[in-house]
Amino acid sequence: MNPNKALWEKGDFTRLVATMRESGEALVQSLGITNGLKVLDLGCGDGTTAVPAAKLGADVLGVDIARNLVEAGNKRAAEQRLTNCKFQEGDACNLHPLPDQAFDIVVTIFGAMFAPKPFDVAKEMVRVTRPGGRIVMGNWIPNDPTLVAQILRISSSYTPPPPEGFVSPMTWGVESNVIERFGAAGVPAEKISFVRDTFTFNFPGEPAAFMNVFKTYYGPTMNAFEAAEKTGRAAELQKELEDLFSSQNQSKNATSIPARFLRVTVSL
Ligand SMILES: C[S@@+](CC[C@H](N)C(=O)[O-])C[C@H]1O[C@@H](n2cnc3c(N)ncnc32)[C@H](O)[C@@H]1O
Repeated sequence: MNPNKALWEKGDFTRLVATMRESGEALVQSLGITNGLKVLDLGCGDGTTAVPAAKLGADVLGVDIARNLVEAGNKRAAEQRLTNCKFQEGDACNLHPLPDQAFDIVVTIFGAMFAPKPFDVAKEMVRVTRPGGRIVMGNWIPNDPTLVAQILRISSSYTPPPPEGFVSPMTWGVESNVIERFGAAGVPAEKISFVRDTFTFNFPGEPAAFMNVFKTYYGPTMNAFEAAEKTGRAAELQKELEDLFSSQNQSKNATSIPARFLRVTVSL
């Protein structure tokens, strides 16, 4: 089994997505989507960005490596009668059979960053985008003090070291890496722009309860707890994450946590 696929099918990302919908919609609103635009949402999950893009009239294909999330996306599109929004399984490292230059916008919000071969991912995204089109990536930033970068940092500090040659997804949050990867795909640095943006997670409960959603359903955190159980450090991990969630919370009676990310726009 492909470990990248196994990681995301192991959890159930649909349990987290309700907390992400508002920021997902706001992000899509900022893309300038017009009727009939062809949009690829890569690493789409159950369609946090694909569904609102389709509601704005785009013709949307969501591609994700996790079968359960593709199913969940197609169910949402059917429930909302969005005939212009389809989801299918695929790997950002190799998007065949998607044809060359098929999309006006490729959007990937915390999606393609998790694919294991970043140079192939950049090449594939460039290949399927039409000349004059755009690629928009949302990438978590390594060592950033906000929520998700810290969850991933803490989780990895409890998990055994990755196999040799593993490239951390967080490397997509460093501008020089982004320039190097798209450069190797033939895109000059002047065509790439960067903005620090914010994604806010809203959960209708205490921060510790929100943390438990990650513990139970988010692959990287699930793996950290499994490893920590084996080494007798699960309580330590629980405390470290609970402290993180409560220190970042900005709501008095629920949970609202802003997280910073690197927004990359590549204009082809
Ligand atoms: C953090 S979730 C984000 C999902 C969605 N973009 C959202 O904002 O709700 C990461 C997603 O990337 C997908 N993913 C990870 N590796 C992938 C790959 N190689 N190709 C396509 N999708 C991938 C996962 O299955 C998961 O749905």
